[in-house]
Amino acid sequence: MPRYERIDGGRTTFVVAADETGAPRLLHFGVRLSDDIDLREIDAAIQAGPRESTPDGPVPTSLYPPAGMGWLGEPAFCGVHAGGDGALAWSSTAIERRGETLIITLTDKRTRLRASLTYSIDAETGVLASKATIFNDGATVFRLQQAASLFLPLPSWATEILGLTGDWSREGQPFRLTLGAGAWSHTNRTGRTGFPGSTFVVREPTSGDLTGRAFAIHMAWSGNHRLLADTLSSGQRIASVGVHLAPGEVELVPGTSFETPTAYACYSNSGLNGVSDAFHPFVRARILPRDASSPRRVHFNSWEAAYFSFDEGSLKELASAAASLGVERFVLDDGWFSGRRDDTSSLGDWHVDKGRFANGLRPLIKHVHGLGMDFGIWVEPEMVNPDSDLYRKHPDWCVHAPYADRPTMRNQLWLDMSRAEVREHVFEQLHALLAENAIAYLKWDCNRFQFPAVSANTPAAARIIHGTYALLDRLRAAHPAVEIESCASGGARIDLEMLKRATRVWPSDSTDAIERVRIQRWASLVLPLETIGAHVGPSPNPITGRELPMAFRARVAMFGHLGVETDPRKLTAEDRKTLLRHIALYKQYRGLMHSGRQLRWQSDDGADALICISASTDEALALVCRTGVADRAESAPVRFPSLAQGARYRITLPDPWPDIAQRRMNDPEAWRSGRTFSGQVLGETGLRLPLSDPLAAWLIHLQRV
Ligand code: GLA
Repeated sequence: MPRYERIDGGRTTFVVAADETGAPRLLHFGVRLSDDIDLREIDAAIQAGPRESTPDGPVPTSLYPPAGMGWLGEPAFCGVHAGGDGALAWSSTAIERRGETLIITLTDKRTRLRASLTYSIDAETGVLASKATIFNDGATVFRLQQAASLFLPLPSWATEILGLTGDWSREGQPFRLTLGAGAWSHTNRTGRTGFPGSTFVVREPTSGDLTGRAFAIHMAWSGNHRLLADTLSSGQRIASVGVHLAPGEVELVPGTSFETPTAYACYSNSGLNGVSDAFHPFVRARILPRDASSPRRVHFNSWEAAYFSFDEGSLKELASAAASLGVERFVLDDGWFSGRRDDTSSLGDWHVDKGRFANGLRPLIKHVHGLGMDFGIWVEPEMVNPDSDLYRKHPDWCVHAPYADRPTMRNQLWLDMSRAEVREHVFEQLHALLAENAIAYLKWDCNRFQFPAVSANTPAAARIIHGTYALLDRLRAAHPAVEIESCASGGARIDLEMLKRATRVWPSDSTDAIERVRIQRWASLVLPLETIGAHVGPSPNPITGRELPMAFRARVAMFGHLGVETDPRKLTAEDRKTLLRHIALYKQYRGLMHSGRQLRWQSDDGADALICISASTDEALALVCRTGVADRAESAPVRFPSLAQGARYRITLPDPWPDIAQRRMNDPEAWRSGRTFSGQVLGETGLRLPLSDPLAAWLIHLQRV
């Protein structure tokens, strides 16, 4: 008689069945089931019968199949014992339930390998957390090759992948793929989370922004990983995510264990917005450090305004100009330390550059504080340039293969963070920097791929990342008030394990607002807006060369954690006025944007829409914009989902109205004084705003009357 267990959270239930000797099976991961449902019925309803030309007895899609033993798809788990014994088979299964956590223990009695699978469901949001720990209780070394964090048998409706790819300055590129025969997989070997990120959606193909069934799966790990979906010729289909291990990277000597990173997943029956509805409150309540400052301060970051060309005087000028716009935090980017004048030298030497700051950073910080702002600074602690004192003193501290070339990227090498003495040295330098200066914020960067990922001639990619986590944890414990941003050449280190240590991410080096509409849209599938750094960059944009009006740039940046990166001293009077206005609007509405529910969708004719709705549904702020020319002159009405149907809302369109679009406005006077509509009209009919021209961006404020 199988044993059945369920765990519930939010609108989701997760049900498994297991015989004592059989493989555990997933019976349900989906809508919350009634409390009194008989779980045996689900099993009876979906049990498969015998098939021709298959192993005798059904081979169910189990929750953690090893390679072999009749499961012919991608295994959840594989490896080999020293001596070559690779025949693994779970011979016993035990299930224990602790609150809304299930612990399933699988044992191979012959080799005495044991896998402990942990599944927890968050009570509020229904987000599932899954991980595995592999124990070697036997007498021989076990070379682990693969251990999934989550191995998810998929229902028959889940036939489409919505994945993300991307590269430097072009992150957040969605792609769709039909799962027919065979596998789709993405293996990240960059040593960072990677520009494509570590989230994908498996859904029914008719699912969209607001409707349809979907699973979102996120690998919370800042290093090498593999995402995959596999369809067998039988039609059985699974999705699986886990750390990607190099051959020989994990050798479990008798008595030791390996714990995988955690994967998170959710079920949605309201499309991509259902995914965000689960993940946003989950990230806010369970992932982000408690010390994330609230409200999120407006940043100025020196990078695009100054690059490597600054001194104490010019930074003070920049700070004064930024403060006059309403900026609340001044972040000094790259170039402030030990002879760093370009990207060829000095990483590893975290001492204030005496040439630029004769009296250290304190006079600048004092100036910044005097303007009512706090102070942040850029660091890249995991790196070293060959042209640095650190490298000259400790050339063996970088990740390298003995007697081999040391290939650089951006002229730098990766420090071996798996070594305690390396971490100790970096900690001491950062600790001194933070102890000596009133620094509220670190922009923590990581600008290269990890190759070759070896330590003492042994593959060590995962250990190096664990070393970085340990360094971050120690630094955060020593300086709990310091906030950290995760940046890796832009958006190459955005994952929920990093976000346990960072309060926000820098999703792309591109501040081009047209690119940012897409980049921020996809970053916010899982992340709430307040964690997504969004800066107003210069025009023309330094990366794309595109010129964009200030109102458009500022509106796109408002829907994130707002910052300014353009040089505030060089703004025209008009642009300055527009930027000031939007910084004020951001401050007025950030409480709403950073706590409420957020929905994104495309209007019937492809305008990008985003609405932030307060928990009570009394107030909302929306942005509707178009980045290119519409294919029709008369734009389609934009429907606003999820407002209170029976309520009435007063709509205002905050200034400045987009240039060309406002000339096409019907009854502008009525719009200026504010109009009132029912939630049902807004949800079913929608508003027709002039949105057929490129760069039309309307801010829409809704207040229940
Ligand atoms: C990376 C970051 C940028 C900037 C530079 C400084 O590219 O993504 O924002 O900090 O490094 O070198």
